Amino acid sequence: MTEQGDPNPSPVHYDRVGAIAVIVIDNGPVNALGQNLRRALVQAVDTFVQDDAEIAVLMGAGRMFVGGADIKEFGKPPVAPDLPSVIAHIESCAKPIVAAMHGNALGGGLELALGCHYRLAMPGCKLGLPEVTLGLLPGAGGTQRLPRLTGVESALEFILSGTPITAETALPKGVIDRLGTSDLRGSALAFAQDLLDRSAGPRRVGDLPRPAPNPAAFAAMQAKLAKTARGLASPFAIVKALQAACDMDLTDGLAEERRLFLEMMQTPQRAGLIHAFFVERKVAALPALEGVVARPLRQIGVVGGGTMGAGIATSALLAGYPVTLVERDEKAANTARTTIAANLAAAVTRGKLTQAARAAILTDALACVTDYAALSNADLAIEAVFESFDVKTAVFAQLDAVLKPGAMLATNTSYLDVNRLAAATSRPQDVIGLHFFSPAHVMKLLEIVVASSTAPDVIATAFALGKSLGKVCVKSGVCDGFIGNRILAAYRGAADRMILQGASPFQIDTALVDFGFAMGPYAVADLAGLDIGFLTRQRKEASRDPRDIVPGWADELVHLGRLGQKTGSGYYRYPAGSRTGLPDPQTDALIAKYRPVTSPPAQAFTDAQIQRRYLAAMVNEAAKVLHDGIAARPLDIDATLLFGYGFPRHHGGPLHWADSVGLSGLLQDINDWAQHDPFFWAPAPLLERLVAENSLFASLNG
Ligand code: 3HC
Ligand code: NAI
Repeated sequence: MTEQGDPNPSPVHYDRVGAIAVIVIDNGPVNALGQNLRRALVQAVDTFVQDDAEIAVLMGAGRMFVGGADIKEFGKPPVAPDLPSVIAHIESCAKPIVAAMHGNALGGGLELALGCHYRLAMPGCKLGLPEVTLGLLPGAGGTQRLPRLTGVESALEFILSGTPITAETALPKGVIDRLGTSDLRGSALAFAQDLLDRSAGPRRVGDLPRPAPNPAAFAAMQAKLAKTARGLASPFAIVKALQAACDMDLTDGLAEERRLFLEMMQTPQRAGLIHAFFVERKVAALPALEGVVARPLRQIGVVGGGTMGAGIATSALLAGYPVTLVERDEKAANTARTTIAANLAAAVTRGKLTQAARAAILTDALACVTDYAALSNADLAIEAVFESFDVKTAVFAQLDAVLKPGAMLATNTSYLDVNRLAAATSRPQDVIGLHFFSPAHVMKLLEIVVASSTAPDVIATAFALGKSLGKVCVKSGVCDGFIGNRILAAYRGAADRMILQGASPFQIDTALVDFGFAMGPYAVADLAGLDIGFLTRQRKEASRDPRDIVPGWADELVHLGRLGQKTGSGYYRYPAGSRTGLPDPQTDALIAKYRPVTSPPAQAFTDAQIQRRYLAAMVNEAAKVLHDGIAARPLDIDATLLFGYGFPRHHGGPLHWADSVGLSGLLQDINDWAQHDPFFWAPAPLLERLVAENSLFASLNG
């Protein structure tokens, strides 16, 4: 099917091995089922029908079988043939077709295999229906065929989780018929030959009887989803589709699945989740770094083994780097080792590491010491000492003295000026900020803070490191709080202003949880400790604009020893060590003292008003961050808030959300609020420009 030198090679190759037709999908990078591939698959099946081959194997070239439908086509008008009809064409074929899977068979990829008459998968191959993570449900027969193979309860859990299983797990469930052995093609041909030898004809999943209904399983799942999937649409659509599998014949069940699929396709949640999917992948693609070669990174040093240093060391160890950690004294070094050992034990519990690998790391890969000289071989040293410019410059001076030429110095500072820290060393070109989030071995975000002096290959090395640690890396310029904490200060400011105007912390948290955040800002403050915000306010005291407000009630809570969960009370009360906060009338009474008696009058906020103000503050500051060149693209901001600040994924990130609700309405609201508070609500020039041009943040993503 492929002509040599053809500028548009077919995404499907067809050849013959005796009586076996071999159909290979070749549509890199993930063999996504775009329109060209769907059409070519129909042609390949027609060729198979017409020639004298007796059986066909269908497999993928490159890294995997098929990664799914082509997500880039979503939201655009559908182009025939659609995937369900391609699969129906395969299933109805009068000669048997065998799917031979390797790497990944996801979404439409697994559905394609379920339409084939026999299935083989190579060991380790991941089979999954992850559509729920994109705000969808399987739309090409997955909800109808899978329960016919595995039973409805198992299919329900599998499709709702969106998490792939391995071929080894899929075999006993009946999803596949055989595990491959050495190589894909050899295994596929051997299976096909066995089937030929047995004169096995087509065996259609669609011909299997409907799955037996299981009302108890449906009721239990509905109850669970009411708690875990609040606000989401597609999990509930999945339940409906599986109910249809039990109640309808295949044709009607497939039609119902398709109806629900197309309904989900129209939802803003689908658009938000797919935006998040692409943001995660595009954020590290920086044109300026193309062709820049990263420096070698074999040995990592960490200075400071407290909350962050121990987490950073854990993350590096889990990625396979040897780590030398320097602390102030023996006791602190031992404490750091104990913390890291506990982090690694938790990784064993979660199945991320074997017990033997943990033991080997602790013996061979980790050294916790007090002498900076131990870092003489390090390619990179990351400091995570106290947040003080003087302490950090002293640490950098010691690092500068012991590190070899070309070794990099990184700071995990949350707020301090990385340009000044760099300038205090003899090698400003080798200095960069690596702003991890707590817990550093768990949180996905890594802000890579680039100083004006940082060399391009140091930036490239930081991105390479972040990738190997499994982080989502965002490049940030230097300003107070970088991208994330600067924007956080703005939306926390909006929440505090609503408190002054009459809202309670509980009301604000509830409205934001309703929007999709896992926790509201005041519950988060209680979790992190109110002393952190207090210290930040003190640090900013000297530079604070007199027009800004100070949340005196937050300071008073600290003075009262109400530091949050760790002291049993903060904004909330935590009875007897509980981690669930109860609204506290004492907090409300304390806050009431700070509310102005006169204008603006105490106001009752609806949930929608709370959400809009909070998000508008986020968007307005984000537009300023973009305007100032601290973030290069709107997608960098969406990535920061999604992966470091718990922004609900189904809203796609603050700037995707802003585009979806309309920028001119947001600007109008900001201008209205600015009438009472012109300092805080000064509209961002970039937002004004986009509105004037009738444009969107998305237009700046390049
Ligand atoms: N459609 C279009 N492009 C896709 C894609 C898809 N389904 N899956 C991945 N890509 C793109 C990525 O955006 C990336 O593009 P880039 O190089 O330009 O950034 C490239 O393919 C490589 O992707 P990854 O970097 O993610 O490669 P990995 O090897 O790390 O991961 C993967 C491969 C596990 C397949 C991962 O890409 C993935 O999870 N993809 C999405 C899987 C999925 O959700 N499938 C279901 C789709 S919905 C569906 O099938 C509907 C059906 O029921 C009708
Ligand atoms: P921490 O107080 O838990 O740990 C700091 C550690 O540094 C202590 O163990 C201390 O003994 C050690 N230390 C101090 N001076 C040292 C020196 N001269 N040499 C060697 N070790 C020294 O502090 P935490 O929370 O880990 O913060 C560290 C840095 O990370 C700060 O800059 C902070 O702003 C930043 N950060 C903190 C986050 C958090 O959530 N805790 C999140 C992101 C960044």
